[in-house]
Amino acid sequence: MRKVNEFPEKLDITITCASGVEKVVKSELVRLGYDNVPAINGGFSLSGSKLDVARLNINLRAADRVYIKLKEFPVLTFDDLFDGVKSINWENYICSDGKVLVNGKCVKSKIFAISACQSIVKKAIVERLVGRFGGSRMIEVGSLYEVEFSIFKDVCSVYLNTSGAGLHKRGYRDLVGIAPIKETLASSLVLLSDFYKDRPFADPFCGSGTIAIEAARIALNIAGGIGRRFAFCDWENFEDKYFDLAFTEAKDKETRNIKLDFLASDIDPKAVKLAKRHAERAGVLDKIRFEVKDVKNFSTDLKYGTIVTNPPYGERVYDIKEAEGCYKGLRTAYDKLCGWSAFIITSAKNFEKSFGKRADRERKLYNSNKECRYYYYYANKPRGIKND
Ligand SMILES: C[S@@+](CC[C@H](N)C(=O)[O-])C[C@H]1O[C@@H](n2cnc3c(N)ncnc32)[C@H](O)[C@@H]1O
Repeated sequence: MRKVNEFPEKLDITITCASGVEKVVKSELVRLGYDNVPAINGGFSLSGSKLDVARLNINLRAADRVYIKLKEFPVLTFDDLFDGVKSINWENYICSDGKVLVNGKCVKSKIFAISACQSIVKKAIVERLVGRFGGSRMIEVGSLYEVEFSIFKDVCSVYLNTSGAGLHKRGYRDLVGIAPIKETLASSLVLLSDFYKDRPFADPFCGSGTIAIEAARIALNIAGGIGRRFAFCDWENFEDKYFDLAFTEAKDKETRNIKLDFLASDIDPKAVKLAKRHAERAGVLDKIRFEVKDVKNFSTDLKYGTIVTNPPYGERVYDIKEAEGCYKGLRTAYDKLCGWSAFIITSAKNFEKSFGKRADRERKLYNSNKECRYYYYYANKPRGIKND
């Protein structure tokens, strides 16, 4: 018979995010009512409940994952690792027949053999569970529990991954376009810009549509994780009521009936078709005007809008000359717009030269581990509409 203890009420929650987007995640946390959340290396840490785990997973747009931190202890030997992991009350989290997957990393530490550490961590968990629940071995046929350890400067931290797949997996993008950007990064780009839902918005290199779709979902207050399930949803002792409540709360905040002036275009008809498919699956097809268009012909009479875009970098599908042509085309289009700001991410070193204009600001970001710059070009816009 499957056995598991009661899941603890008070949890040490860790939220991870990509380097460069901490500011965005911090603002999201504050907006969700989590004030005074200290930053830690690679994310944020807070004390919360099972409902907080559900709320954070459903609502955070820019974070990577939500973890429960189980223990932190010094490790100099494999025995230290085994004893430290075995001392965690796993029976409060993992079912007697749970499938346990262990991943981890070792950095600047005496023990550094990752696969040996993985085996030790797994062995310690299984021994603890078999010791508490009885039986001679663990038959792993139940829900999946992903355990992560990080050994940094001889201190081991052990986490349970409540998200499962990364939070960028919103669920609406089912087919892959050319060099798509992660949904979490797309949201971050929008939230770092001067975008506002009552003003026009455009992505003239929309590809599979991610940036425009994320922007529309932000404008309509559609929570990032509304269309998916999370690892904790399958855990027997993590009652459904927490997901259900967080889901209902998020649904109640949606404002789907507002009109948006959002444009998305791409030179490739196949990309535009894919973007439309994803927009439909994301529930925002009627909010974005999609067009097949070369960037140099992008134009609109709408004023005081925001461009957020991810043009070719000149590395894979397009060579650097073609990418430079795209930047020049973007400048041609940009100069004809009235009062628009532009926010452009690329790894191309000579972007500003090709675009022909120094950026007002830039920020270092990573797109799939590739170091990029996010260039900000502000415009004077009439007062009266503020970012809320
Ligand atoms: C890096 S991808 C954009 C990916 C997109 N952000 C996504 O998440 O799918 C760059 C896009 O620029 C488009 N493109 C290339 N040259 C273009 C041009 N001259 N005008 C408009 N789009 C162009 C490509 O078709 C490609 O979809």
